[in-house]
Amino acid sequence: MNLLLTTLAEMPVPRDLPLPLPLPATLLKVLLVLFFLVHILFVNLTVGASLLVTIFEFMGRKPGRERYDDLALAFAKTVTVNKSLAVVMGIGPLLCINLVYTLQWYGANALTGHAWLLIIPLVTTAFLLTYLHKYQWESWRHGRRKILHLATGAAATLLFLCIPFIFLANANLMLFPGEWEKVIGFFSALQVGNVLPRYLHFLLASVALSSLFGAWWFWREDAPVPGFTREQLRRTFYGVAAAATACQFLAGPLLLLTLPGIGITGRLYAIIIPSAALGLLTLLLLLKKWHGPDSELGREHGLIWILFSVVVLGMGSGRHAYREAALATQTAAIAERSAAYEKALADFNESHHEQAIPTESPEQLFATCGACHAPDHRLVGPPLQEIARIYANNPAGIVAWAKAPGKKRPDYPQMPPFAHLGDDKLRLIADYLLATAPK
Ligand code: HEC
Repeated sequence: MNLLLTTLAEMPVPRDLPLPLPLPATLLKVLLVLFFLVHILFVNLTVGASLLVTIFEFMGRKPGRERYDDLALAFAKTVTVNKSLAVVMGIGPLLCINLVYTLQWYGANALTGHAWLLIIPLVTTAFLLTYLHKYQWESWRHGRRKILHLATGAAATLLFLCIPFIFLANANLMLFPGEWEKVIGFFSALQVGNVLPRYLHFLLASVALSSLFGAWWFWREDAPVPGFTREQLRRTFYGVAAAATACQFLAGPLLLLTLPGIGITGRLYAIIIPSAALGLLTLLLLLKKWHGPDSELGREHGLIWILFSVVVLGMGSGRHAYREAALATQTAAIAERSAAYEKALADFNESHHEQAIPTESPEQLFATCGACHAPDHRLVGPPLQEIARIYANNPAGIVAWAKAPGKKRPDYPQMPPFAHLGDDKLRLIADYLLATAPK
């Protein structure tokens, strides 16, 4: 309780935006988790595959090991496609998170400032380098140029490693508004929560997923890369996927143990533990394939994907459960503040409205007309004396004229209409005019 109070006291509590959500909040949250998983799938495939491409290319640089260079090229061709999908699929979750967690998300964006804005030039540069790397493969294959080629690929990979790190720092920072006051820019944001274990978890997932993808991609045809059989490739990729998944059993608990207590709930464990158990099953299956005979390699690939997907869905839901719990105090405080603000606003409007309903006297109302009409001499308009003669005992005639004045006197300008005052007020004015005009 005490902890909760201090956190709330230190927490900035902004007011919510007084705009309705375009969809129910729960639906937006479900969409956020699903859209995010689709996006992160392609991010994983981009980051993991570009890392593996760099490693394969490095392995293939020695004479006699060119087949690794070919493998790197074949895999690199998938990176450019997947990176485009990662970007396009990023729009959905970005829109959802903007809507559901507007204040926390923009708060974190603003605090990481320059690094956040850097994402755009970094992504652009990474893309251009990836294309350069892919299209210059043949012409930069030999001699010194190969070093340049390797460096280009490595630079793109490095950028692909940095971009999710910035995103992650933001997504992490938004969970801990109690810490916002300590944050000045990107690097200090890294000290909040547990960015590094989260990043490690993400990186291993990228390698595991990309390897699983490789195991599928290179299985489609016979001899997909010169020098390798499809069995060899599938076995290699299964092996890498197994190694990365095994590491998750260290990285996962590390992540869980370093998570700030504020978002840890029974619900989180109820989601994470069964998912981890399925992850273990996936790992065992991968190891079995990796060790087993060639004849076994063609089977159960779909099952591995299904298991993997369920694990990822579990992890994504766990992540959401943590976010909801971590932000619960602030969300409630924001709702309370918004409600208080809305009430104050309504109260003010009400009292203001009472004042605005005028109990103006006919004399005050007539002042509008008095600007142009004097009692017994010409001003802008004719004198009241003249008007009273024309409209004696006919106040309704004055009302009708004032609502839609005609053009009567050639030596006078046109009178502006006063229909906006309404019949009631105009009638009060007309009666007053007729009563007070000099005879
Ligand atoms: C901006 C100046 C101006 C204001 C304000 C003004 N009038 Fe006039 N009014 C005129 C002018 C000019 C004429 C003469 C127009 C004409 O004869 O073509 C006129 C003419 C009239 C006439 C004579 C119509 C007739 O049949 O000869 C009436 C009645 C009249 N105004 C009523 C009012 C009332 C009531 C108001 C206030 C709600 C008002 N006026 C405000 C400029 C004004």
